Amino acid sequence: NSFEPCDFVLFGTKGDLARRKLLPALYQLEKADLIHQDTHIIGVARDDMSVEDYVALAKKNIETFSGSPLCEEAWARFSARLDYVQVDMKNEKAYNAFKEHVDSSRTMVCYLATPPSIYGDICRGLNAAGVIDPSVRVVLEKPIGHDLASSRVINDQVAEFFEEKQIYRIDHYLGKETVLNLVALRFANSIFATNWDHNCIDHVQISVAESVGIEGRWGYFDEAGQMRDMVQNHLLQILTLIAMEPPTTLDADSIRDEKLKVLKALRPINASNVQANTVRGQYTAGFVKGQEVPGYLEEEGANTRSTTESFVALKVELDNWRWAGVPFYLRTGKRMPSKVSEVVIYFKRQPHNLFQESFPQLPPNKLTIRLQPDEGVEVTVMNKVPGLTGSKAMDLQKSKLNLSFSEAFKDDRIADAYEKLLLEVMIGNQALFVRRDEVEAAWKWVDGIFAAWESTNDEPEPYQAGTWGPVASIAMLAREDRAWYESK
Ligand code: BG6
Repeated sequence: NSFEPCDFVLFGTKGDLARRKLLPALYQLEKADLIHQDTHIIGVARDDMSVEDYVALAKKNIETFSGSPLCEEAWARFSARLDYVQVDMKNEKAYNAFKEHVDSSRTMVCYLATPPSIYGDICRGLNAAGVIDPSVRVVLEKPIGHDLASSRVINDQVAEFFEEKQIYRIDHYLGKETVLNLVALRFANSIFATNWDHNCIDHVQISVAESVGIEGRWGYFDEAGQMRDMVQNHLLQILTLIAMEPPTTLDADSIRDEKLKVLKALRPINASNVQANTVRGQYTAGFVKGQEVPGYLEEEGANTRSTTESFVALKVELDNWRWAGVPFYLRTGKRMPSKVSEVVIYFKRQPHNLFQESFPQLPPNKLTIRLQPDEGVEVTVMNKVPGLTGSKAMDLQKSKLNLSFSEAFKDDRIADAYEKLLLEVMIGNQALFVRRDEVEAAWKWVDGIFAAWESTNDEPEPYQAGTWGPVASIAMLAREDRAWYESK
């Protein structure tokens, strides 16, 4: 752990994200011996709590959410770093209490695991306490705004005190091993690098299905919907990594410049093409994995007239040279049959079929990238079935070249995305974080879709919980003689 020591300040340390993800991720980094010995971790919340109580709370959360018993040695090191400060985050004056807990000889990292509506207050408070200097890093969680205009307000509030090179906007999908592997797959393999365009690829499918519903988050989710919660960030980020041009280097801005170009090339969806290119759905009661579950409008605290979408399917086109005429079909939804995220690249068919007799239509090669679970990469190829048949009637069979991460990397644990991202923040590498112009380009495109939906007055189509979404989503591809990939 050669990087510098820091004061890692966790604002909103009693919140869901900190409890479920951030504290367990920090602990795993400790276990892997990746935290500098002089680093301090300082929890901040509104509650009056002693450091001992905070340590006990952190222990309980880490035990509950890290899925394995604590390693005593790692816990002893970790708990010795923990500190707690009570701060009323909306009160500028309250930040003086915080000042005594940090040390300017260490780099301060402020993780704002709070609602974005108080990002501005926290920045002002830190400023009033005189603890901001150019070495401080600030980490922002999504959602950054509700649309382009509100994202600008939040980003402006933070920019008043921090420069872009100090700001780390989290999209946790960028920390997933398999998402990182997209860059390796594309740029470390000439077999893919040279076939990666409209000459060879017919279309691309990106599916991020979840079996969970809204998990008691009605208040948040109903305001957001699946488009803002998943498409604006996670799905578009995956799309940029699939579609971007080779960056010059792996440096943060080199990668982010290329991702931005993809976001700027998204063909606008507006009132004239919204019906052909989008499907919105909302789940009704049904069964997921054998369990009966309520419909969206029957969830706890639901407003029964809500028209918020819990499913989105989109046909996305990129107006650039590489991808001309290649549709990217995106779909994501809650209460689908299982949790599965996959990217499937469909290559073009052979121009002429030599195997008419045994295979009247040759299926296309497919590259399937399983992002989660059962992480891996699979290529579907045609193969001769061994046997003494005449050359004209060569028997073919579809086979799979399958790289399963759990088999290939048996001894390597697949780290949670937050572990990777927290480590990168501590190192000070912005490559896996979203730049302001990316957030804005994504919002601009998404805002266009919302405006188009509004102009049609259509409501989301119902789909039964435990299915792959409304029939209209299947029809969107069927109109173009295509079908959604069926996940195993
Ligand atoms: C979050 C969304 O960003 O991502 C949640 O707010 C969603 O609604 C989650 O469930 C999915 O993340 P993962 O890592 O479980 O695929």
